[in-house]
Amino acid sequence: MNFLDIMRHRFACKLYDENKPLNREEIDEILEYGRLTPTSFGLEMWHFHAVVSKEKLKELYAVCYEQEGVRTSGMTVAILTKASKYLDPDGLFVYERGVRFPSDIDWYIEDYRPYHEFLKDTGRLEGWLRSQGYLAVANMMTGAQSLGIQSCAIEGFDEEGVLRVLDIDPKEWSLSLLCTFGHTVEEERPKIRVPLQELVTYH
Ligand SMILES: Cc1cc2nc3c(=O)[nH]c(=O)nc-3n(C[C@H](O)[C@H](O)[C@H](O)COP(=O)(O)O)c2cc1C
Repeated sequence: MNFLDIMRHRFACKLYDENKPLNREEIDEILEYGRLTPTSFGLEMWHFHAVVSKEKLKELYAVCYEQEGVRTSGMTVAILTKASKYLDPDGLFVYERGVRFPSDIDWYIEDYRPYHEFLKDTGRLEGWLRSQGYLAVANMMTGAQSLGIQSCAIEGFDEEGVLRVLDIDPKEWSLSLLCTFGHTVEEERPKIRVPLQELVTYH
């Protein structure tokens, strides 16, 4: 299948075949699609929690408004982003991320500083952090479809509950979103989208 066909056939899967788990190779390939996803300033201010244990999936299901897709999935990935305190341009985290790039680290920090300032001043810092996870999920979902694995992004969750289930400190991390993966038991749902002519303004 070419990329467009893969996009056309991916659909939000709500129920998976529990007798067809994902193998380790498939799991790591999907996670690799996430790892290779770009982040703003290349900061990679995230961590992926890959949940495959039946017991944990059941606990997650309970804090995701009992969505069957979570309970029956072969893997549910939670994307966490670092607490905003770590994104300070003068902090160790930004230094450690920035120093990996060929450009001079002072230049990197001074380039980042005004953007960080802008995010803070406009109250967008938290939203900016959480939004990074959405790109990773988009790539993981499309990539999974290329392997014949279905998925569904999950925004319906109780953040406190998810952090508790995964034993994550809320002072250190925020939950961006979750995504389920597995082999579907559903019929493929046709795409419902507005046509390109309505969607796009060409300039
Ligand atoms: C960010 C995001 C969050 C979503 N959260 C949920 C969710 O919590 N539960 C659910 O059943 N579907 C969820 N969906 C699925 C959407 O409803 C679905 O992708 C949309 O209706 C388009 O359908 P399609 O993916 O089959 O093309 C989410 C989708 C996105 C992109």
